[in-house]
Amino acid sequence: MFETLKELPGDKILALMELYRDDPRAEKIDLGVGVYKDATGKTPVMRAIKAAEKQLWDQQDSKSYVGLLGDKAFNDAMVELVLGDAVARDTVASAATPGGTGAVRQAFELAVRANPDVTVHVSNPTWPNHVSILTYLKLPTQTYRYFDEDTCVVDFDGMLEDLKKVKKGDLVLLHGCCHNPTGANLSMPQWREVVAVLQETGAIPMIDIAYQGFGDGLDADAEGTRLIAASCPEVIIAASCSKNFGVYRERTGILMTVTHDTSRTAINQGTLAFLNRQNYSFPPDHGARVVTMVLTDPELRADWKAELEDVRLGMLKLREQLAGEFQKLSGSDRFAFVATHRGMFSRLGLTEEMVMKLRKDNGIYMTGDSRINIAGLNAQTVPVLAKAVIDAGG
Ligand code: LMR
Repeated sequence: MFETLKELPGDKILALMELYRDDPRAEKIDLGVGVYKDATGKTPVMRAIKAAEKQLWDQQDSKSYVGLLGDKAFNDAMVELVLGDAVARDTVASAATPGGTGAVRQAFELAVRANPDVTVHVSNPTWPNHVSILTYLKLPTQTYRYFDEDTCVVDFDGMLEDLKKVKKGDLVLLHGCCHNPTGANLSMPQWREVVAVLQETGAIPMIDIAYQGFGDGLDADAEGTRLIAASCPEVIIAASCSKNFGVYRERTGILMTVTHDTSRTAINQGTLAFLNRQNYSFPPDHGARVVTMVLTDPELRADWKAELEDVRLGMLKLREQLAGEFQKLSGSDRFAFVATHRGMFSRLGLTEEMVMKLRKDNGIYMTGDSRINIAGLNAQTVPVLAKAVIDAGG
């Protein structure tokens, strides 16, 4: 049987992790995978998470199953974190999932179960794994314009023009904040225009929100998602705790549906439970439990928020420094977008050839589309990157 299997192309982001690891140069710089790193290059366990884990170790007296949807307290805390009071709780069905990717996968399965003819519309570009999972599930996929390659900002006219052509019942996948891979985000007036188009076409918005708190702040980053949830009759939301709680390997995420017809909520809830059962049965609990402890304990929550805010402000400072270095070295404002992009990523608009040259000559690792992870930099390496980019012809 196994002789029929063929070698598969590796995931480019994960392959880059290996390439970086194998590079013996001491001065190498990792701007690849989207994992937060502090100025010393470490991905720390957040203080509040560590404190919650210690409490949990003392208190937990069973590892028995929790429930197909995960712990209700986790679901409630995450619905509140993502949606605030944008919608009534009885409009929301939710299920804990193995990470944000688990939620994305379940979201697509939910969509095709509800509408077997669904086409999924993704931004050009989007996180490569969106496309990879859609291809794996054999779901028809189309792209809508999103990023202006020349100016490295959102091509909003193009985006609206394409979204207006989406047919009723199709899924439009939007990034809640901190767009991956570009770092170019919608303003609130632009979100409002997107809502108007979605209302007009009857397309179903799906939001992937994986970096809440990394852009403009916890609430500001959720504003677009909340507006969509309040304004569109049916919404799917996939949220991740990997980044904002730093619990990457614990696989902690949540899938939510919002339906303003509350007579549908219970059926949605049952469908999410069914999908969990078919794919992996019970979602992982450890990460979800410590996240819940952090969100529901006022002291832990305050400490987590403070640390997250430091992380966010640190990345903003690096953005400003990098934009300043580029300005100094190029004598132009053509990289000013680095300071206006938000979140962990910025797409620099370099050719693949330049990206390879940076890797070979300078040991600077970014994905082939010239996406950099801002958190991979520190005050000392920012000028190194800026000079290398300009020297490479950027
Ligand atoms: C990324 O885009 O680098 C992160 O979301 C990590 C991943 O799984 O790809």
